[in-house]
Amino acid sequence: MMTQQKKGIFISIEGTDGSGKSTQIQKILDDLSARKLDVVFTREPGGTPISEKIRQILLSPEHGEMCAETEMLLYAAARAQHVRQKILPALAEGKVVLSDRFLDSSIAYQGYARGLGACVLTVNQIATGGLEPDLTIFLDLPPKEGIRRKRIEADHTMDRLEQEDLSFHEKVYQGYLETAKQSPHRVCRIDASASVDAVFAQVKAALDQCLARWDV
Ligand code: TYD
Repeated sequence: MMTQQKKGIFISIEGTDGSGKSTQIQKILDDLSARKLDVVFTREPGGTPISEKIRQILLSPEHGEMCAETEMLLYAAARAQHVRQKILPALAEGKVVLSDRFLDSSIAYQGYARGLGACVLTVNQIATGGLEPDLTIFLDLPPKEGIRRKRIEADHTMDRLEQEDLSFHEKVYQGYLETAKQSPHRVCRIDASASVDAVFAQVKAALDQCLARWDV
């Protein structure tokens, strides 16, 4: 059903904390607008008023008592609203939707790092209604390096998830590697340890390929 009404293209970008996602997102948005494409940029958790409120609950460092199941369901609830209120309508209008994180974050953080496993997929089948990105850009940076990069950003305050220890972030990373292995048709793994421009050259190649396949 869902794919029938989908005319646009859906791109997600993923990575462990500190992988340089924000910098690459800015470059992707510049690139897409230079191609004169109609782009909707959004993020998870968030993207709609309800989902942004859920985001505040999820990321507040005050909520240290949150159990893994609540966390998974809140991410999924935010996503359910985001998909239906923002992503699907934009795709139906033929737009390019770029989302800072999507389902793969739940698989990596809640499925692997929190240890909830396959039930994350089951719950998110409801949340996404089966919507999958056409392209997922995975910025591959080992967490040790990502955490080091974040800590040297002087004004950066760590949210609830970032405050987790290195072993948590290692599990998140393993989750991403596993997803990349299992979904090679859509996940493009990019070495994020290189310079900003070298990373973007790889990102741009993935975008070129994906946009070339997109017949409108
Ligand atoms: P954000 O400030 O957007 O982090 P980043 O700049 O690293 O993307 O916070 C989102 C946090 O939520 C991030 O630590 C990853 C986590 N997250 C999950 O655990 N599960 C999810 O499904 C999503 C979308 C994000």
